Amino acid sequence: MRIIEVPLGERSYPIYIGHEIWSELSTVLQQRLTPGKALLISDEHVFPLYGAKTAAALKKAGFTVTSAVVPVGESSKSVAQAESLYTKAIKAGLNRTDPVVALGGGVVGDLAGFIAATYLRGVPFVQIPTSLLAQVDSSVGGKVAVNHQLGKNLIGTFYQPRLVWIDLSVLNTLPQHEFLAGAAEVVKYGAILSKPLFQTLENRWDDLLKKDLEVLSEVIASCCTLKAQIVKQDEKEKGIRALLNFGHTLGHALETATDYTYYLHGEAVLAGMVLAVHLAVAAELIDFKTAGRLLALFKRVGLKKAPPGLTVEQVFTAMQQDKKRLVDKTVFILPVEIGSGQSFTSLTHPLITEVVRKYLQQAEALLHMTT
Ligand code: GLY
Repeated sequence: MRIIEVPLGERSYPIYIGHEIWSELSTVLQQRLTPGKALLISDEHVFPLYGAKTAAALKKAGFTVTSAVVPVGESSKSVAQAESLYTKAIKAGLNRTDPVVALGGGVVGDLAGFIAATYLRGVPFVQIPTSLLAQVDSSVGGKVAVNHQLGKNLIGTFYQPRLVWIDLSVLNTLPQHEFLAGAAEVVKYGAILSKPLFQTLENRWDDLLKKDLEVLSEVIASCCTLKAQIVKQDEKEKGIRALLNFGHTLGHALETATDYTYYLHGEAVLAGMVLAVHLAVAAELIDFKTAGRLLALFKRVGLKKAPPGLTVEQVFTAMQQDKKRLVDKTVFILPVEIGSGQSFTSLTHPLITEVVRKYLQQAEALLHMTT
């Protein structure tokens, strides 16, 4: 088992990564929490698969477990769903030392974290991510939120977990399209933060897709290490952490403009990254060769087309409501070379309109560089 520390002073916490490590979970829970009650939050796909194992580990560690199972999908990240989870927590009698445990992907992690951060002004939080996306990104670093109809993650805070427990074996039950959506976030780390990771992904892509344990473990550990380093420097996203939003400005806009029902988060981020590469080329920040190399890897993840009927105006409206806007400026993270990116606020409306229009009309054409 690998252990990666997220170094945040007294709020530091470990990320445990291993294969078939369920039997060790109760010991770790005992070490890091005070036994009592626990609220286990999961979704309708994941709970039947791993709910019993998690509850058993909690019980062995001395917890009385109340389970809450929410519907699958982004629509569960709502204020209404949060309210019903508060009711569960109150009825179960959870007190300030009792943990909320998230068992699931990014939706469950963000929602459960939001409950943990706000119930009784904050109770201990445990992340057990079961999707690739949650394992490499959303379970680490403390971003927790629910959505508003007008924008994704508009209601939330930063709240760090006590531990993150990543068992690679759970990826065997993850549907392939969800695995690929998670792979989009993996590619994001390579493209914007780490040339060595990008090269590993270029060289070992097929093995990653086959869930080769050595590659999976190396790649997930690399992403978590990169994220831990960034979060250590900039926990509240005042600077460098914004790099992790590569692909998210237009990605979030696509998710919001389609009511969170068409794209998985990683699929929208992939589309956002493809568009960001074209913005970077148009703004003369990267050369064609570098752009082509980025796009070649993005193509292997697979670009989802926009749904019929989606308009540039709808995407713009959603983008302008995004909280990543700084006062009246939209922030884009753009690649400047492989493994490196920067934040830009000076892109013009016509430039953005042009790439969004191309994506809506002929997405696949964006996966190649044409002179
Ligand atoms: N998902 C981006 C971040 O955690 O900052």
